[in-house]
Amino acid sequence: MKKMMCIVAFFIALIGTVQAQSNKKILIAYFSWSGNTREIAKNIQKQTGGDLFEMVVKNPYSTDYNECVKQAQNEQQTNARPAFTAEVKSMETYDVVFVGYPNWWGTMPMVLFTFLEKYDMNGKTVIPFCTHGNGRWGRSVDDLKKLCPNSTVLEGFAVNGSMAKNSEDDVSKWLQKIGITNKK
Ligand SMILES: Cc1cc2nc3c(=O)[nH]c(=O)nc-3n(C[C@H](O)[C@H](O)[C@H](O)COP(=O)(O)O)c2cc1C
Repeated sequence: MKKMMCIVAFFIALIGTVQAQSNKKILIAYFSWSGNTREIAKNIQKQTGGDLFEMVVKNPYSTDYNECVKQAQNEQQTNARPAFTAEVKSMETYDVVFVGYPNWWGTMPMVLFTFLEKYDMNGKTVIPFCTHGNGRWGRSVDDLKKLCPNSTVLEGFAVNGSMAKNSEDDVSKWLQKIGITNKK
């Protein structure tokens, strides 16, 4: 009987968590160079009804892959903070911030460092998502956690960039798993 009551209490708590999440205001902020991460961002947007924010760098990277790889390496080595063109309107109103990026040289592109240092993430739920060329997260989640030490960082979603267009079901399963189920 006691065991039964514990199970019932567990499910009531779980439903409470999901309902609580569903009233929250969601932002999906991301950077994408060749479009893979943008696919996931749009997918999350479709499934949650959150607001999209794309980080567009003021000094665009070369469209040539090798050149871009060099530029990204240089930015990482110099610990650069590249600027982006637009502002998030009323960041303080968001409870949940999805943060998306491609794995670049084993971590987030440096513009993500700019973003996470610029906005106050204290008290927010932060959820990373990443596309990659097989290096998965690299050390990006550790780096992200260091930049938002007073946030609740939930389990993220990482996918090989070549699968980004076909990951709708996986995104859906992941969102359900972490209790983000709402749609405006
Ligand atoms: C500058 C640069 C550096 C990259 N470094 C890595 C890496 O260290 N590990 C990895 O798995 N993939 C790496 N990739 C591959 C990208 O993470 C992958 O193609 C990603 O899906 C691209 O996302 P996007 O289309 O949103 O820009 C790199 C790509 C670029 C352009």
